[in-house]
Amino acid sequence: RDRQHSLEIEELIETFPMFAELDDNAHEELLLLFRPRSASPGDRVIRTGDRGDSMFFIASGAVEVQLEDDEVPLGAGSFFGEMALLTGARRTADVVAVDFCQLFVLERRDFNLFMSRHPQLRAAVSHMARERQESNVSR
Ligand code: CMP
Repeated sequence: RDRQHSLEIEELIETFPMFAELDDNAHEELLLLFRPRSASPGDRVIRTGDRGDSMFFIASGAVEVQLEDDEVPLGAGSFFGEMALLTGARRTADVVAVDFCQLFVLERRDFNLFMSRHPQLRAAVSHMARERQESNVSR
C-alpha cells in the first residue's frame, strides 16, 4: 500500500478509536464507503421527523443534537444518525453544525453491508443508540 493510503488508515483510527479493533481490510473498505461532506455553522444536517438513509461520523468540528428540551454536543470521533438506520424510525432529533465540520457519510445500504460483516461494530453502535434512547426517555 502506498504511503498516502496507510496514512489515511492511521488517521481514521486516531480519529475514531471505535474502529481500532477492525482489520486493515475493513479500514480500507470504510475509506471507500465513507463519503466526505462538509458542514458550516448553522447547517441542519438532520431534521426531526425526516426519513433517514444515512449516518454521519464527525472527523472534525462539532454539532449539537437538539432534542425537545435539551441539547447534546457531539465532537470529533462521535457519530450520529445511527438510530434511523437501526430502527427504521424517523429522525428523532435535529442535528445542527455549530462549527465547520468534516463529516463522513455512510449510506444505509453500505451500513447494512458493513455492519453485517462486523457484528462487534454493530453491537457497539447499537449499544450507543440504546443508551441515547434511554437518556432521552428519562429526560
Ligand atoms: P437519528 O434518530 O437517526 O437522527 C437524530 C440523531 O440524533 C439520532 O439518530 C442520534 O444519532 C442522535 N441523538 C439522539 N439522541 C441523542 C442523545 N441523547 N445523545 C446524543 N445523540 C443523540
